[in-house]
Amino acid sequence: MREVNRRPIGVFDSGIGGLTVVGELRRCLPQEDIIYLGDTARVPYGNKSEDTIKKFAIQDTEFLIKFQVKVIVVACNTVSSVALEFLKDRNLGIPIFGVVEPGVKVAINKSRSRKVGVIGTVATINSGAHKRLFPEDFEVIEKACPLFVPLAEEGINSGSIAKDVAELYLAHLREKVDTVILGCTHYPILKDVIRDVLGSEISLVDPAEEVAKEVRDFLLKGGLLNSGGGNLDIYLTDIPPHYLELIERFLGDRVNNLKKVDLENH
Ligand code: DGL
Repeated sequence: MREVNRRPIGVFDSGIGGLTVVGELRRCLPQEDIIYLGDTARVPYGNKSEDTIKKFAIQDTEFLIKFQVKVIVVACNTVSSVALEFLKDRNLGIPIFGVVEPGVKVAINKSRSRKVGVIGTVATINSGAHKRLFPEDFEVIEKACPLFVPLAEEGINSGSIAKDVAELYLAHLREKVDTVILGCTHYPILKDVIRDVLGSEISLVDPAEEVAKEVRDFLLKGGLLNSGGGNLDIYLTDIPPHYLELIERFLGDRVNNLKKVDLENH
């Protein structure tokens, strides 16, 4: 068995969006090995029922555990919102980090007016997971933005279509909040158009930055930092032909280690 500090960090998401979180983890922890699982055959999770999201989350987690990961990062906001406690209650013996709490923590510190917007998938917003974590005197306005995921995946992150969709979802937040949590892995790709529509006075919170810091602090405190890794292995449940370009856009780097996996028969 490998020493714990030399084991990889496991990260999973419903698809490739979680690579925006991997990008932050690599910036923050360049010497860690990372195993990434993207359930591209079954994405999106954001419009599925709680039972299905939980079932998929168990399979994703069990896949990563086989690699003896030292921590698991649930990069998917939908799973973090709907199934994080459920996963933790399974007592897997591995620390599990989600992206909801880190985003809320940053928003609480950033907001002066104590009025915050949360945007995410339908399942994330319906779960109320973010709202529950804010102190009572905060006003939290939530908005599901389901068209943002396909826009990001199609590379439509600027221009009139992206702007119209952002306007449709976000116009009502403009005068009401001073901070908005980007509660979906795909939204950092649309950051510019979101900022255009909301205005530069509104702070945008990307939970990925905070979760990467939390994982680093945890590894540091536990003496679990790796000093000689840095590899990234990407496992996907489907690899459609155009995916490499998309993956590199989400990760912000070149990729040469792409593997297909069947979660039912692994
Ligand atoms: N990864 C999902 C999230 O962060 C977005 C895509 C999906 O709906 O599965 O919520």
